[in-house]
Amino acid sequence: MAEISTDIAKAKALLENNQLIGFPTETVYGLAGNALNEEAVVEIFKVKNRPYFDPLIIHSHSLEKIRTWVEEIPPQALALAEAFWPGPLTLLLEKKDIVPDLTTSGSPKVAVRIPNHALSLQLLASLDFPLAAPSANPFGYISPTTAQHVNDQLGDKIPFILDGGPSQIGIESTIIGFEEDQTIVYRLGGKALEEIERVAGKVQLMPHSSSNPQAPGMLKSHYAPKAKLTLLNDWSEMPAINKQSLGVLGFDQYVPNIPKENQRLLAPHGTLEEAARNLFSALRELDKLPISGIVTCLLPAQGLGRAINDRLKRAAAE
Ligand code: TXA
Ligand code: MG
Repeated sequence: MAEISTDIAKAKALLENNQLIGFPTETVYGLAGNALNEEAVVEIFKVKNRPYFDPLIIHSHSLEKIRTWVEEIPPQALALAEAFWPGPLTLLLEKKDIVPDLTTSGSPKVAVRIPNHALSLQLLASLDFPLAAPSANPFGYISPTTAQHVNDQLGDKIPFILDGGPSQIGIESTIIGFEEDQTIVYRLGGKALEEIERVAGKVQLMPHSSSNPQAPGMLKSHYAPKAKLTLLNDWSEMPAINKQSLGVLGFDQYVPNIPKENQRLLAPHGTLEEAARNLFSALRELDKLPISGIVTCLLPAQGLGRAINDRLKRAAAE
């Protein structure tokens, strides 16, 4: 098992030695290594069992540093960066040669983000390279939002997990790119579309095409628990059979006539932010129960509800 600790000096020493660590962020935990070192980057793909065509996001603590790794930051990108960094927003920018093709899966663009997490920012500021960090789960499974989640699945493959507490946003960053004058959202995420559009104006949504070369990681089946997940549009569609053995992912109220121990609530206080924060750990908990399947209901398509629904649909896809 990996060492779980808040020792930044130890994290720094391992990373400088091109080893990997579990890395806390406000969205989800990452599997981090030196983004400019091919040996560390190859190791990330191997540990995650991730296909090499699925590029990595690089993380930094400052825009000034990011300028040393990207060719230019167009005005629309700068406006978004200034509004939302540090935060759950990733920008696709033209890379400089110093960023290995391996990190971007051969794309001339690199995905960059400044995470909003005090311990991680402190670590990033102590390094003179950015950290490549995909979510720290085996490829295709639910993303981790605690150090323990990372340890459960990757603990025998990495030496160390930096413990930053539970991730406060709970779903991955919103990914945005730019084509001529268009601002394009490639992945819905922790920064709501309404907020993005307040800064960027009308954006184009391209999140679902798995054949889209700009976001090869947006495969249809992803974030999947082992138990089969069934989506309802409304709780009135609840199946009448197998109620004793069914797991339920509810919103703010338990579903009647289903054992409570087989149910988890996303948002006891009824907010979408709370639902995002609890989504992945609730799915992981349900996935440990002896149940025949999991049933849940799509949320209103507004605010973080859109990104949550996107994760639920991918988790339910065959
Ligand atoms: O919140 C997050 O973004 C988390 C934390 C750790 O920062 N990271 C994360 O990484 O979700 P990951 O690897 O699970 O998802 C990264 C996705 C890729 O699957 C791909 O779709 C997109 O980002 N991506 C990365 N680099 C890209 C590039 N150069 N061009 C197009 N898409 C890219
Ligand atoms: Mg991921």
